[in-house]
Amino acid sequence: MSELEHTDESAKATDSAAQISDLLVEEREFAPGAAFSAAATVNSEELYQQAHSDWEGYWAEQARGLDWFEPWHTVLKWDPPHSQWYLGGKLNLSHNCLDRHLSGWRRNKAAIIWEGEPGIEGGVAEQRTLTYQQLHREVCKFANVLKKLGVGKGDRVAIYLPMIPEAAVVMLACARIGAVHSVVFGGFSPESLRDRINDSQCKLLITADGGWRRGNIVRLKAESDKALEGGACPSIEHVVVVKRSAGEPFPCHIQEGRDHWYHRLMEDASADCPAEKLDSEDLLFILYTSGTTGKPKGIVHSTGGYSVVTYNTCKYVFDLKEDDIFWCTADIGWVTGHSYVVYGPLQMGATVLMYEGAPDYPQRDRFWDIIERYRVSVFYTAPTAIRAFMKWGEEHPRAHDMSSLRLLGSVGEPINPEAWIWYHENIGASRCPIVDTWWQTETGGIMITTLPGLHVSKPGFAGWALPGVSATIVDEKARPVEGSASRAGLLCLTRPWPSMLRTIWGDDERFQETYFSKWQDDQGNPRRDLYFPGDGAKRDSAGRFMILGRVDDVLNVAGHRIGTMEVESALVDHPAVAESAVVGRSHEIKGQAIVAFVTLKGSSPALSARSTHPADIIDELKAHVATKIGAIARPEEIILTADLPKTRSGKIMRRLLRDIAEGRTLGDTTTLADPAVVENLRQMYEGQE
Ligand code: WTA
Repeated sequence: MSELEHTDESAKATDSAAQISDLLVEEREFAPGAAFSAAATVNSEELYQQAHSDWEGYWAEQARGLDWFEPWHTVLKWDPPHSQWYLGGKLNLSHNCLDRHLSGWRRNKAAIIWEGEPGIEGGVAEQRTLTYQQLHREVCKFANVLKKLGVGKGDRVAIYLPMIPEAAVVMLACARIGAVHSVVFGGFSPESLRDRINDSQCKLLITADGGWRRGNIVRLKAESDKALEGGACPSIEHVVVVKRSAGEPFPCHIQEGRDHWYHRLMEDASADCPAEKLDSEDLLFILYTSGTTGKPKGIVHSTGGYSVVTYNTCKYVFDLKEDDIFWCTADIGWVTGHSYVVYGPLQMGATVLMYEGAPDYPQRDRFWDIIERYRVSVFYTAPTAIRAFMKWGEEHPRAHDMSSLRLLGSVGEPINPEAWIWYHENIGASRCPIVDTWWQTETGGIMITTLPGLHVSKPGFAGWALPGVSATIVDEKARPVEGSASRAGLLCLTRPWPSMLRTIWGDDERFQETYFSKWQDDQGNPRRDLYFPGDGAKRDSAGRFMILGRVDDVLNVAGHRIGTMEVESALVDHPAVAESAVVGRSHEIKGQAIVAFVTLKGSSPALSARSTHPADIIDELKAHVATKIGAIARPEEIILTADLPKTRSGKIMRRLLRDIAEGRTLGDTTTLADPAVVENLRQMYEGQE
């Protein structure tokens, strides 16, 4: 038995490996077509060789594709776990996304083609197109608005917007003046928004009267008002409100002095705003993501390195060409939206398609209809969406001409081979390569994948570490898990990379603890040079990585990271709850679903009033979590129980709860304080299903 099998983490990796291997009954390989390869930006191993022989030289070379106001003097300063890239270099990401495309014909090229959700039933959808010239003008104007509102370099700005072009405009405007944006996904609750604003002390909040989602208006301004209520966010000086509604604004309250309509501010703003010459290491943005505690972490990214990686992955992985129409379906509230809706493709001078709404509104063919109408050529989405499409049926894509597609991508969670093949056949007409891209909020850009014109891909396997990225699989002692295709281990990045997170906002200790203390050296000191992403992985004989998913207490629900502790904190916040333990169980579409085991306070008045209706309290608890965190964290199932299985030292045995939730044979129960607890729980769980 290997060292690895002793821990909960390695047990998780091994479990997932076994599950995925079961699916790989028939391993298939897919080579890109000859024409695709011939035209691809990368069709040889050269980049890998370059990076291998001169790693820093490779990253220097990659950075030369961008405009720098002043050149860097040092590519990398690595003081583990802190890295600084392109030291001394000065640049501006908004300049690289906009200004540098304005000197030639590209100024008249569409930068963003946007489609709103409503209107399609009447025939024509609500649409807007911004050329590079137009986008540049909007961004400059809003950058001046920011200045007028007292926002300057280093100030934090919270963005809580639907998927509308203004979301990109305000992000780029922040980048232009060196303000640090913190985008909060529109599906998060007012309380989550408030915590994020307060954690990084944002000065300004940018929101909208509303946004459309599945035929309903999501009232973001009203939600923002709840977040700010009673002076709960003292750092906020102003609120800018974008009028999303095409006619009269969606009803919302405007507080004189504090709140300002975006369109009014823009009327008077000058369109002249030269891009600030920022230092490569100046902060670019903060993006909160879930971790293993109840408190989300503010992942901090800086300018130079992030620009280089988002740019070069668009070039090599998405193979973006001048006439491509690139559609990444992620919301800007997630890192995928930052890197592959806004910053990466715009630096490339590409045309980005942006869609506001749901994939099944008004019909389940909305995505395919969009691909047909705009002739989308590169399409990037998440496995959870693909599994939903599978369930909805092939007739929806079949009803559309999607011959414009040439490359497909997947991100956010492991893609099961069945979904991969469905995607390949039904969306890609068995002709488009698929890039399964592994990365994280913390990595800023794609780290492990295939290059579509070069590699033969295999469903279920993401591929290899990109040139300049060093990944390996190790055990608990940082010993390489080599060779054998069947052994699972812990994924580890062994060298820094330009777009790596710089720290966790306000908590550098947590940064070091979370990512750089998994492994120790011989003296027992933490190996600060090894990055632990929290994922399990294994390799095939060709060295391809298969990512097995999280091995820590983070769930991946429909491609969204949710900390079990966050959900537990939300549950125990309810007056009737004494204790809770949250685990994940596999879910056909979402990948994982949230299952919560809850013990109620015996003497709680809330409970005695409802004791005859456990269903009511379950619904109430689910709603409570949704209100506290957001609908994405609503538990799929809540099991009320008198006791939770604990070790004699009082630690909850999550592994057993996962076994129960998955309906698996129970693992080792010998360390349980009271074995009867588990047996009762299992009977209850099975009885409930
Ligand atoms: C998971 C999203 C398997 C993984 C870009 C990671 C994946 C977490 C893949 C990061 C993939 C992402 N195959 N798993 N291709 N891509 N993941 O921060 O568990 O929202 O740690 O970033 O998603 O999620 P995040």
